[in-house]
Amino acid sequence: MTAIFSDEIIQDIDTCLKELAVTTAFLSMDRYMQHGDTTCLWHSIAVAYYSLLLVRMLRITCDRDSLLTGALFHDYFLYDWHAKDRSHRFHGFRHPKTALKNAMGIKNLNPIERDIICRHMFPLTPIPPVFKESIIVCLVDKFCSFYETICRNTYKTIKGRGVIITEN
Ligand SMILES: [Fe+2]
Ligand SMILES: [Fe+2]
Repeated sequence: MTAIFSDEIIQDIDTCLKELAVTTAFLSMDRYMQHGDTTCLWHSIAVAYYSLLLVRMLRITCDRDSLLTGALFHDYFLYDWHAKDRSHRFHGFRHPKTALKNAMGIKNLNPIERDIICRHMFPLTPIPPVFKESIIVCLVDKFCSFYETICRNTYKTIKGRGVIITEN
């Protein structure tokens, strides 16, 4: 997961993050753990990065901007799902809708972006993604989640070479 690197993709993600850092709570995702020692912020960055990398390696034509936006926001639920709280019950099933609601509070999302966020937990949630962009994020999310669950100190290459902003 850490061996392949693309400066161009990191730059695209970084541009997006810089915009989001100014106007939104996006970087606060770094406070919430996702899997292992990987935070929701880094999980989302990694899913975006590897989705874009996969598209490039396989020469898949798609809406790259929607892929990036949807991947970055796919887990924008903004809470620690490990914390015992009634509102976190059924997190696996419910968080895509929470992420969509939070993301829609920031910007209007197109149908591809909405599908990426809403359907990324398929097959846990029953309705499958319909766009190639959402299918890609659904698959990459599974690989990233598995990697984060079994490894520590994840995504060293992206963290080491990417220009990532810190939250104020
Ligand atoms: Fe998720
Ligand atoms: Fe995810």
